[in-house]
Amino acid sequence: MVNLSIQLAPKHPRGLLLANPVMTASGTFGYGTEYGHLFDIQKLGAIVCKGTTLEPRDGNPQPRLAETAGGLLNSIGLENIGVNALIKEKAPIWASWHVPVIVNIAGETVGDYTRLAGQLDGVAGISGLEVNISCPNIKAGGAEFGANPDSAAEVTTAVRKATSLPVLVKLTPNTSDIARVALAVAEAGADAISLINTLKGMAIDIAKRSPLLGNITGGLSGPAIKPVALYMVYEVAGAVDIPVIGCGGITTASDALEFIMGGASAIQVGTASFSNPRAPLDVLEGIEQFMKKEGIKDISELVGVARI
Ligand code: SIN
Repeated sequence: MVNLSIQLAPKHPRGLLLANPVMTASGTFGYGTEYGHLFDIQKLGAIVCKGTTLEPRDGNPQPRLAETAGGLLNSIGLENIGVNALIKEKAPIWASWHVPVIVNIAGETVGDYTRLAGQLDGVAGISGLEVNISCPNIKAGGAEFGANPDSAAEVTTAVRKATSLPVLVKLTPNTSDIARVALAVAEAGADAISLINTLKGMAIDIAKRSPLLGNITGGLSGPAIKPVALYMVYEVAGAVDIPVIGCGGITTASDALEFIMGGASAIQVGTASFSNPRAPLDVLEGIEQFMKKEGIKDISELVGVARI
């Protein structure tokens, strides 16, 4: 037997104990319900749902997806059902699950984030919040907040005050010093930090002589960004004393192990789920096999083991 469990919020009064370090990345796994017929999603460490806003959103104009070499550009624009429908329709389902569900929240103003946090506080079925200050595809808010330490800290402080739930903050790579942003967020009371969200990018349709995405720019995810994400996780894990959750191009167990050895306490599988819906479970099983083969009894023995 190997122990895969990890404590994601050691400074939080209730903590957030995951059975294992494999989470799904927001926006790539719907509300979890969509994947239930494909594999036993209860085996995962946690599910993070699509970015949720105060009001429902239709998202950006089509086209909103473009494949790139080793990656995927998206400009979804936070299409989602809105917080009221989430509380009414999704949370009661989650309340019957034993896998924790974390709600990713996104807003245009600090007040949006605090209202979302307040409304979700105490709702059965919700185990934590992931504060999305990193979406590159909306006109106001999102990544604007995550681009500098002061605004990132302001949102974190406000959310921290508005909820008793564990607070994760998801960072953008589209900033000059992600470690400084991470430190500011940690000092403002975040329980854990997840990174990275997508890298801002674009594609051009040469036949039409125009940008391919309806929103002109989008966010790049997938294997193409893995080395960048890993580097940033390594930097951030060296800067903060709260758990770091690695995300960005993780497709296999060995990808996940790189992030864990680089300092991540947990990881999120995102774009990989689009080509292999079982990817999160495959990653989990691969980590377990690696530990058995290497005689590692507890996942904590691997966290940060490659750090110099
Ligand atoms: C989107 O909905 O545009 C992507 C969400 C995100 O990057 O946080």
